[in-house]
Amino acid sequence: MREKAYVTTPIYYVNDVPHIGHAYTTIIADTMARYYRLKGYETFFLTGTDEHGQKIEEAAKIRNRTPQDYADEISGKFRSLWDEFEISYDKFIRTTDEEHKIGVQKAFKTMYDNGDIYKGHYEGHYCVSCETFFTDTQLIDENLCPDCGKETRIVKEESYFFRLSNYQEKLLQWYEDDEKCVLPKGKKSEVISFVKQGLRDLSITRTSFDWGVKLPPEINDPKHVMYVWLDALLNYITALGYGTDQKNMTYWPATVQLVGKDILRFHAIYWPAFLLSLGLPLPKHIAAHGWWTRNGEKMSKSKGNVVNPKEVADAYGLENFRYFMLREVPFGQDGDFSQKALIDRINSDLSNELGNLLNRIIGMSGKYSAFGISSKNVWHYHEKEITNVMEHLRQAENNLNDLQTNRFLEELWKALTIANQSITIYEPWVKMKNGENDFALATVAMVANILAKVAILLHPVMPKTTHKIAEALHFSINHDAYVTFIENNGLLEDFTIQKVPPLFPKVEAELLKAPEPTPAKEAKKEEVKDTAISIDQFFETKLKVGTIIEAVAVPKSKKLLQLQVDLGEEKPRQIIAGIKEYYKPEDLINTQITVVANLKPAKILGLLSEGMLLAAKDANGLTLIRPETPKDNGSSVG
Ligand code: MSP
Repeated sequence: MREKAYVTTPIYYVNDVPHIGHAYTTIIADTMARYYRLKGYETFFLTGTDEHGQKIEEAAKIRNRTPQDYADEISGKFRSLWDEFEISYDKFIRTTDEEHKIGVQKAFKTMYDNGDIYKGHYEGHYCVSCETFFTDTQLIDENLCPDCGKETRIVKEESYFFRLSNYQEKLLQWYEDDEKCVLPKGKKSEVISFVKQGLRDLSITRTSFDWGVKLPPEINDPKHVMYVWLDALLNYITALGYGTDQKNMTYWPATVQLVGKDILRFHAIYWPAFLLSLGLPLPKHIAAHGWWTRNGEKMSKSKGNVVNPKEVADAYGLENFRYFMLREVPFGQDGDFSQKALIDRINSDLSNELGNLLNRIIGMSGKYSAFGISSKNVWHYHEKEITNVMEHLRQAENNLNDLQTNRFLEELWKALTIANQSITIYEPWVKMKNGENDFALATVAMVANILAKVAILLHPVMPKTTHKIAEALHFSINHDAYVTFIENNGLLEDFTIQKVPPLFPKVEAELLKAPEPTPAKEAKKEEVKDTAISIDQFFETKLKVGTIIEAVAVPKSKKLLQLQVDLGEEKPRQIIAGIKEYYKPEDLINTQITVVANLKPAKILGLLSEGMLLAAKDANGLTLIRPETPKDNGSSVG
């Protein structure tokens, strides 16, 4: 029987249109699904939309629409973008699908019958935006959500609870037994320490709104609807027919479940606990990726800087964009989108190193052998190169199996470097002149074989481009090719090369306009200019003197430094400041600055920033505003 693979993306909320973050998750998952198919696994790839809950109900309400009508529209947008992007999903699930709702009720009933669900009351701080309750100690500034920074509401209601606390030990055992159950490693440690702090039972129903799956009819409690995360997480099995026709449940457990780091807790703690309660096996890998920013800044609708994946793909080419996203960021870390970085990748990695290699093979074979390529002497002259290449390809696959997409591509590019360098080292043109034709032609054939092998493994990332390479080299990319050229390290049969137009024309300039400030933002600027403030208004801003006691660069950011500032309080404040271009971290230690001390905390590149420092900027650069002579930390300014 063929091995099975099941790959999932999170299901996307329908309160927002698709952006680069959604595209990133989906493209990694698509790459994994295509890779498993290449390896010959019977593969099922699931994506879809998450359509219930208060957030969606409210988003529909402000637009004067019914939640269903609104969800239909946005779900359609996700689906058509994935279709345009040729995402190879096997099923697109919607949580408003009838079969899903039946499956969710079945799961609820099973957990209830197992004694894992009981009725009680819940009172707590609820963040509508994240659809999550938080405890007092988790909140920032007493009522702000620790995940998104928005205000939470106090909610008290009757609720059914899931006995999450019963699963603490079993979960810890799973993390210990299964080294790669949560990837990457660093994220796994975060999950373990969270669980070790103790798990409280989870409220899994709501009475405060209607837009959700009702409880199973047997429980007969119509005022409750299910907590959106319970409903949503179960999609991964209802999509396989759990609770209905069961027919695809043979794909369970999932091979890889892709998630963003913000929703790892739900997937690495709640989800396996639900599965344990249902008596189902646990997924093989829950893999959490980092977040994308744009030019070093968090993306948001109000800033008008959200990267629209369709615009980028239309301007730069879908497969170039796929390559860029997977190559640019170490899996699990945050990444920055800039057109400059994308152009660099296209011009150097793709055009110079990959595209040019094909051009050189076409050029040399045209000159020396009327485009004929024969592998017959490759082992004889180039065993070393082929063996090294196979080592890199094996390492590449190991990395991909661990979701390390950037390292996977790096290894493939190391193989390309061997090919490119061999041309320089062996100089086939000199050998042709000296009458060493066999050697020269073996070098050209060796390089063509390396390109063929790399194209096979690159296929999941760049399906169409690699088909073009294969066409030129007279073979087809499919499972058989994987077995022949990768598993068995075979070489291409003799063939005549087919000329193809250059695969990666150089990009000379940025193709997308920089984001314009939104009109709302402009209007706000005007308003500020014309309005004088009173002294009281001024004193609403608390300015304080502080000393920088630690300063380090924020990784991957050109602008940001991470500072620890002593404001004479119990513990230092962390401030993320955009001053890296003007100050070296080591020069800032033990210097004093002025800080806006009562700003709402914000997350910048995933780091909490608990204040803002004052600086003046003109054409000559930026300078920090500091007291003329040292002042006690915490001294107020005004
Ligand atoms: N509906 C839930 C998931 C339920 S899964 C059972 C949800 N939806 S979401 O639409 O808000 O987010 C979906 C995914 O997009 C998450 O994995 C999230 O991490 C990812 N991203 C959203 N913004 C992102 C970036 N700026 N960068 C990278 N990924 C980000 O959460």
